[in-house]
Amino acid sequence: MSENVFDLIVVGGGPGGYLAAERAGHAGLSVLLFEKAELGGVCLNEGCIPSKTFLYSGKVFEHANDGKAFGVSADNAKIDQKAVVKRKNKVVKANVLGVKNKMKMSNVIVISQEAKLAGRSGSNFNIVTQDNRYETKNVILATGSHAIVPPIKGVKEGLDSGFVLTNKEILDLETIPDKLVVIGGGVIGLEMASYFQTVGSEVTVVEMLGHIAGDIDKEVGSLLQKTYADKGIKFHLNSQVTAVEDGQVKFEQDGKLEIVQADKVLLSVGRRASTQNLGLESLAIYTERGHIVTDDRGLTNVPGIYAVGDVNGRWMLAHAAYREAEVAVKTILGKKDIVRYTALPSVIYTNPEVASVGLTEEQCKEQNLDYKKVSIPMSYSGRYVAETNRERGLCKILVDPVHDRLIGCHLLGSYASELIISAGIMIESEMTVNEIKELVFPHPTVAEVIREAVFMLD
Ligand code: NAI
Repeated sequence: MSENVFDLIVVGGGPGGYLAAERAGHAGLSVLLFEKAELGGVCLNEGCIPSKTFLYSGKVFEHANDGKAFGVSADNAKIDQKAVVKRKNKVVKANVLGVKNKMKMSNVIVISQEAKLAGRSGSNFNIVTQDNRYETKNVILATGSHAIVPPIKGVKEGLDSGFVLTNKEILDLETIPDKLVVIGGGVIGLEMASYFQTVGSEVTVVEMLGHIAGDIDKEVGSLLQKTYADKGIKFHLNSQVTAVEDGQVKFEQDGKLEIVQADKVLLSVGRRASTQNLGLESLAIYTERGHIVTDDRGLTNVPGIYAVGDVNGRWMLAHAAYREAEVAVKTILGKKDIVRYTALPSVIYTNPEVASVGLTEEQCKEQNLDYKKVSIPMSYSGRYVAETNRERGLCKILVDPVHDRLIGCHLLGSYASELIISAGIMIESEMTVNEIKELVFPHPTVAEVIREAVFMLD
């Protein structure tokens, strides 16, 4: 049994799990990682990375179609969805292989099995699989999340027949549906709506709330909606889906029953932490609304047991999982660190992209914070004007007037995802507005729009 006692066992091989294993392995800990499906988790196999391959193909297609505005004609541009899926699979494979190699290089033993907690043996924790038992001094739970399937009439049958898809199945769709109905106008719904609208589907988004894109700044969210409405996506807000059947999606809007025709339906109404069959009860680990409760080090109520990534329900974002994993491993190694969530960026990879960091204007109001704001179009950047075809864009900054510091930045436009980190650094390092003004931005870049906004504060 002694060779089966590890310093750390990680359950789940997505971004949170594999990064934790890698860091711990590098630090010299003996590490075992359990993954029941593919290394890379949802992010690499059916989330972040594959969806980006779709969205990039969509962008190339759109550029080809829009070429004339830039003096380039590419007549009869066609999208070959089978080839898009094939390329996606290649990209996924390459990334998964990259993670496998990282595990090898960090001396992490990977076991492709489902594992669960099973109480203690002395001061160690037990982890069991179908046919084995292992002991460990520490555990990191990184089992991620799964798509919520609401009890809407016809959804279960639709999932079985292939009429209804989740984020997973839609990424294997080799034919572009004529009519795609997206239930849920959040991150997944909008990214997929963006792709399928670009490549020719008639897309309808049915959203329960009065706005799309969840908690993002409302000014940015409504501009995004307007942009997509102009491109042809139909939005039904304040709409509750009641049934999905016979090629139709039925919903109630303002007390009236509405029906839209659909060839395929994407179900993207949120995700739930995956805590089932994890043996949490064997150690009385606290959960709240289905997710594992942790502190800012990723520690659960049981010393030695950590939970990182989607399973702790804090920020269901791969980069949050990365940071949580690093902090959990540092804590195991006896180093002090915590995850600060104040400057955690988020991105929606629509075209144009949305990127945010820090507080939104709505949050400032809710928290009764004094704030100054500047909203300017992205066209303040010369490069933006040069490289887009009059694409709508917005840069909004929020500043705390008492400490004269940036507290929020919200962007809509090309490159937004790549430049949001600069605003994140400004917030994280608590730079004053004067210090930001002294920074030299390369010219011409889209990032300069942040500098322009800062100079408009007085
Ligand atoms: P979400 O929470 O972002 O959006 C779900 C939407 O569905 C909400 O707007 C909600 O009001 C709506 N909704 C819920 N029930 C409904 C119903 N019965 N009828 C109509 N609308 C309904 O969830 P989503 O898009 O599934 O994404 C899941 C998670 O994955 C999110 O936490 C997200 O952060 C993460 N993710 C992140 C990405 C990124 O960082 N770019 C990309 C994709 C996913």
